[in-house]
Amino acid sequence: MTALLRRLIQRIAAEGPISVAEYMAQVLLDPRDGYYVRADPLGRAGDFTTAPEISQMFGELLGLWCVDAWSRLMGSPTRFALAELGPGRGTLMADALRAAQVAPGFLEAAEVHLVEASPALRAKQRQALAGRDVQWHGHLDAVPDLPILLLANEFFDALPVRQFVRTERGMVERMVGLDPAGDALRFGLAPGPGPWAAALPPALREAPLGSLVEYSPASIGIVQAIARRIVGRGGAALLIDYGSAESGPGETLQAVRRHDRHGVLDDPGAADLSARVDFAALAKAASDEGVDAFGPVPQGTLLERLGIAERARMLAQAATSAQAAEIERARARLIGGTEMGTLFKALALAPRGRGVPAGFADGERRI
Ligand SMILES: C[S@@+](CC[C@H](N)C(=O)[O-])C[C@H]1O[C@@H](n2cnc3c(N)ncnc32)[C@H](O)[C@@H]1O
Repeated sequence: MTALLRRLIQRIAAEGPISVAEYMAQVLLDPRDGYYVRADPLGRAGDFTTAPEISQMFGELLGLWCVDAWSRLMGSPTRFALAELGPGRGTLMADALRAAQVAPGFLEAAEVHLVEASPALRAKQRQALAGRDVQWHGHLDAVPDLPILLLANEFFDALPVRQFVRTERGMVERMVGLDPAGDALRFGLAPGPGPWAAALPPALREAPLGSLVEYSPASIGIVQAIARRIVGRGGAALLIDYGSAESGPGETLQAVRRHDRHGVLDDPGAADLSARVDFAALAKAASDEGVDAFGPVPQGTLLERLGIAERARMLAQAATSAQAAEIERARARLIGGTEMGTLFKALALAPRGRGVPAGFADGERRI
C-alpha cells in the first residue's frame, strides 16, 4: 500500500467519500506524496513523454508564435510577462527563448514567469533555464499584472475533473469511497443530485440517461483568469493539450504508468492521472470574458502552419544521417494523424478584434 493510499483511506474513513476532483488533486499534488511533487515523471524512462521532450522544434515554433503575437497582437510592449503554466522540465521555455532571439527587443521586454506546483520539476526548470532571469509561482494569480503572453502544454489535462452520472433523479456526482472492508478505494455515487449540475454545459447536462460526464471547474477558473488578464492588459495565450473540440459525454480520466494504462484507483501517487480537455468549454469561458478564442485546431495543423517542415529541413541540413532520421521521426510523431497530431489540439486566445494568431485562420474564431 502506498503512503498516499493509506492517508486517503484515513481521510475518507474520517470525512466520508470525496469527489473525483478532490481525489485527483490529492493524488497529483499532495504536498508530501503527490505524483508531481515526488519526482520528474517525464521522458522515456518515466511514465509519459510530452511534445517538447520529443523535439526542440516544438518549443522553437511556439517561441516564434510568441514573437508574432507580441509584435502583431500586442503592439510590442517593452515590458510583459512571458508566462508558462506547468512547464515540466523547462524544455519548452528554453527552446522558445532561444528561437525568440531572432526578434529585436523581445527578450529584453520579456519577464519569464513559471507557474509550477512541483518542487522536483522546479529544480529541473532551474537547470534548463540556467542563466535566465526567471520567477516561479504556485498560481497564475501571483504573476505580476502586466501584458501577458501565456503558453500551456499538457497543463489543463492535469487539472482535476468532477464526474457526474445522468440518472433518473438528475446529475449525480461520482465519488471515491471505501469498499465494505474499509481497506481499498472504490467508486460510488453521491446520495442525490448536487448544485454542480447547473454549471454544466448543455451538451453535458442533456447527455443520455446513464452516461458519465466530466467537468473541470479548476480549468474554467484558470482560463477565465487568463482571459481577464488579456482583456485588462493585453496579451495572448496558446493552450495545447489532448482533448476534444466539442463537449460531450464519456469517461476520459485515465492513469498512466511507465507508458501503459493503469487503474485510476490503483497505487495512488505512483501513476499519472489526466483527463481529456474540453476545449469547447474553455473557449466559451474565455470568450464570455471578452477575448477572441480560435480553434481548437489539431496540433499537427498548427505545427505545419507554423513551419515545422521548413524547420525540420534546416535542422537536417546540419545533422548526421542518423540525426536527420531522428528529426524526421520526431516531426512525424508531432504531426501524425495516428500520433499526437490530431489527438492533441491547440486553442488560442487573443484580444477581441485585434487579429488572428499565427497558425489559426479567421474562420476558426469561435462565436
Ligand atoms: C503533464 S506535465 C506537462 C509538462 C510540460 N508542459 C511538458 O509539456 O513537458 C504537467 C505539468 O503541470 C504541473 N502542474 C500540474 N498541476 C498543476 C497545478 N495545479 N499548478 C501548477 N502546476 C501544475 C506539473 O507539475 C507539470 O509540470
